Amino acid sequence: MTGFKEINGVLNADNVPLTDIAKEYGTPTYVYSADVMKEQYEALAGAMKRALPADRQPLLCYACKANSNVAVLSYLRSLGCSLEIVSEGELKRGLKAGFKANQIVSTGVGKTRSEIISCLEAGIHQFNVESFPELKHINQIAGEIGIKATVVFRLNPNVSGGGHHKISTGRKRDKFGISEESICDAYQLASEMEHVEPVGLSVHIGSQVFTVESFKTAFEKLPGIVEKIRENGHSVTRLDIGGGFPIIYKDEKLLDLDRYAEWVRDIIMPLDTEIIMEPGRYLVGNAGVLLSEVLYVKETHDQDFLVIDAAMNDLIRPTLYEAYHGIEPVENRDAPHHNYDVVGPICESGDTFTQGRDLPKMNQGDLVVVQSAGAYGFCMASNYNTRAMPAEILVYDGQAHEVRARESVEEIIDLDKIPDFIK
Ligand SMILES: Cc1ncc(COP(=O)(O)O)c(C=O)c1O
Repeated sequence: MTGFKEINGVLNADNVPLTDIAKEYGTPTYVYSADVMKEQYEALAGAMKRALPADRQPLLCYACKANSNVAVLSYLRSLGCSLEIVSEGELKRGLKAGFKANQIVSTGVGKTRSEIISCLEAGIHQFNVESFPELKHINQIAGEIGIKATVVFRLNPNVSGGGHHKISTGRKRDKFGISEESICDAYQLASEMEHVEPVGLSVHIGSQVFTVESFKTAFEKLPGIVEKIRENGHSVTRLDIGGGFPIIYKDEKLLDLDRYAEWVRDIIMPLDTEIIMEPGRYLVGNAGVLLSEVLYVKETHDQDFLVIDAAMNDLIRPTLYEAYHGIEPVENRDAPHHNYDVVGPICESGDTFTQGRDLPKMNQGDLVVVQSAGAYGFCMASNYNTRAMPAEILVYDGQAHEVRARESVEEIIDLDKIPDFIK
């Protein structure tokens, strides 16, 4: 039995009791299931295999902003993923994880000089360019170091997608991409530049996209633009159709991947280009939990609080996006329910995982998990309140592997410096 399942009354991760993991590694700790990642990868790759011929399969570039632990990257690489990055740090993680540079796609609205140089020197597959100034910057740097940059242009399709306004990226007023009106001009300009080679387009409308028709609406913008660019005498050989696939946090209705794959077959495939996808959350989100311990049960006249040792610095999604996460005890799972606010120790009312939720009754010292924390969890964690970053554990084949040790408070404090002028 794989994934997060109850065995003999105890919640397990791929057959390893979470009680054992807490005993060995402490809490709060992120625990990932390799099997769930594999299932998710196979579900997505499988849908594409059913819809598209073998020689038209997409490059599945895992968007590692979702979870960039090097072991997670290596594992997804071993399954068949390529990689999407948004920073020099992610490039270095990707290379350390064994990705070949030509499997890596670089996106983001603010690529730095140093990042562009590192990507060019490594020989990445492409830059997804988001603005005219960025195009000029890449051309200039590529000229300086004598390496031609392969670029695609990110279309801003003016399509709303994304499960929260902060993770919706395809609307006209969003900072992302180049408008339909300007994108052919960008392509033309690039074709006149000496040090860039424009090869295609990209589109990504947001994350946790539930209005699934938005994918189709965005895709439908591409054929007309591709035709225009080709009519202008340029070649278009790559289309990157982004990520954004939703996962279940509560009771959401999932995207039918076969339907999505049919849109790719019917709208994108006839354009006769290489196809690239950038799934992030879908591959890792449901594959992780944040394991924590109940520090106190605080009973007040108005509400009872479970104060747990995980906090908003460990998992910011509830307070940043008002995101729902399931919460479960690791043991005594059949206890009668009680109504709780589940909160962390940080000095902000926003440090709240849920309010007014009925959960099995819990006591001080009990273990609890925050579910579906594998994506945008650890990678968004911070040292707020000088709290050390949690450990990360990857469970594979019934064995727990520590893939990142818990940070020490000393490591954080040692980065600070006291200047001499202070006596
Ligand atoms: C350009 C780009 N591609 C892919 C992704 C991954 O999105 P998701 O994790 O929803 O699949 C993101 C997320 O922000 C992104 O900005």
